[in-house]
Amino acid sequence: MSFRNTIGITDALPQGTGSQNDWGISCGSLHLCRLEKGQVSPMKILFASSEALPFAASGGLADVVGSLPAALSQKKGMDCRVVLPLYRSITPEVRNRMTFLKDINVEVGWRKQYCGIYTIAVGSVTYYLLDNPYYFMRDGMYGFYDDCERFIFFSRAVLEILPELGWKPDIIHCNDWQTAMIPVFYRVLYQYHQEYENIRILYTIHNIQYQGVYGKEVITELMGIPTYHTNLLEFDGMVNLMKGAIETADRITTVSPTYAKEILDPWYSYGMDRALVRRQDGIVGILNGIDVVSYNPETDPNIPKHYSAAKIQGKKDCRKALLEECHLTDTNAPVIGIVTRFVAHKGIQLVQQTFHEMLQMGCRFVILGSGERLYEDFFREMQAEYPEQVHVTVGFVPAMARRIYAGADIFLMPSQNEPCGLAQMVAMRYGTIPVVRETGGLKDTVVPYNEYEKTGTGFTFAHYNADDLLYTINYAKKIYFDHREDWNDIVKRGMQQDFSWGSSALQYQGMYDWIMRGMQN
Ligand code: GLC
Repeated sequence: MSFRNTIGITDALPQGTGSQNDWGISCGSLHLCRLEKGQVSPMKILFASSEALPFAASGGLADVVGSLPAALSQKKGMDCRVVLPLYRSITPEVRNRMTFLKDINVEVGWRKQYCGIYTIAVGSVTYYLLDNPYYFMRDGMYGFYDDCERFIFFSRAVLEILPELGWKPDIIHCNDWQTAMIPVFYRVLYQYHQEYENIRILYTIHNIQYQGVYGKEVITELMGIPTYHTNLLEFDGMVNLMKGAIETADRITTVSPTYAKEILDPWYSYGMDRALVRRQDGIVGILNGIDVVSYNPETDPNIPKHYSAAKIQGKKDCRKALLEECHLTDTNAPVIGIVTRFVAHKGIQLVQQTFHEMLQMGCRFVILGSGERLYEDFFREMQAEYPEQVHVTVGFVPAMARRIYAGADIFLMPSQNEPCGLAQMVAMRYGTIPVVRETGGLKDTVVPYNEYEKTGTGFTFAHYNADDLLYTINYAKKIYFDHREDWNDIVKRGMQQDFSWGSSALQYQGMYDWIMRGMQN
């Protein structure tokens, strides 16, 4: 297995100053904007996503699309906008503030579907919300029999609205399978139209497990693209939307350097390794940041007491309040927090296999999440059996998540694979020590504790098995009880890490710049 094509962005980006005539202002060694007739024009980026905070969220993708464009917009020479579906969950209060721009028709196979274009500004970022009540006025965002059709519509609509906006992006930044058809449609149907000329497409994989796999009939019935393009989309006898994006996007990124390597390996790639390896230009991993203004234990309105690395007392109060809220008794053993989707790749099986042993150690569990029924039932059963030790909330409750980040001692995330993971970074910011498996972004963000050198921000284990998890929890418990000063130092080091978008946003700027340069050559 070769990782020849896998590069971290800092290795991959051309360094040096380049040509000022072509590329205008520079930031560090990277040029951000093109010069047109002596004018500096901002680089225009349109983020296309199926979810984005503050409008619609089911997972980390919403956090990223909710904070990266804002972080980029604060930089000189960047104009970032976001397009997403207008879901039922978008509140009347938000709807009242939206401006209606226009309605258009969007082809879905042989049909033409209504698409209303609404816009709203949040801070420095303009959002476009695309309306089609038939596709999006439903309870929930995904999991419908016609998801394929819904997101084919959305992807096509993103391209169709462009001439109506009076704003032409230089780059469309697509995310995950729901927007994977944008580069395919662009390549096949739009790139030679004058009003669409020279748009570049970046495709970011947030999770390679979800690829959008459907029967081949969707090519003619829903996509309306000539069947001789089937090879772009076909994989394993099916149509695979993510594979289409891997074939057609100008560049591909994923959300951590380690995951960029891992997904070239069949164990992690869910079949996409060969398509990725075939791309001569490689796949680049840029670590996600978190919104450090919102996730701040010194100001977070959702937690009972505020605190910082220097004034940590408030964290103890948060711990006490969390145990009270969850009706858990305190034996002074570590309180373990879990905030996750209850799906296999998050490592829930390992938690199941070790749960009783961890309870025997005296640990308390505060768990929040939803997902597969099997795991929801398991945690409910555990709560019923051990009501003083286990508390589970099934659902998506952001305020509760924050009380767990603040009140727990350990944050458990033993993922089988984890493209980036945001929760472990939030946990560290709130002084909760992560126990994680060394995979993807977990490996890139949690530095294993070294008791000799007194370094590290958490506890990690390499192999995906229950014994290793148990060993690691036991070790963490030992440090917690017997070396409390060391424990407190790990807490402090975690809180002092910089998880802001700063350096990652700069890397994205470099990536956009690199794509635009490629276009000029
Ligand atoms: C997905 C991944 C997660 C990542 C998030 C944002 O939800 O599973 O690891 O942090 O996307 O990129």
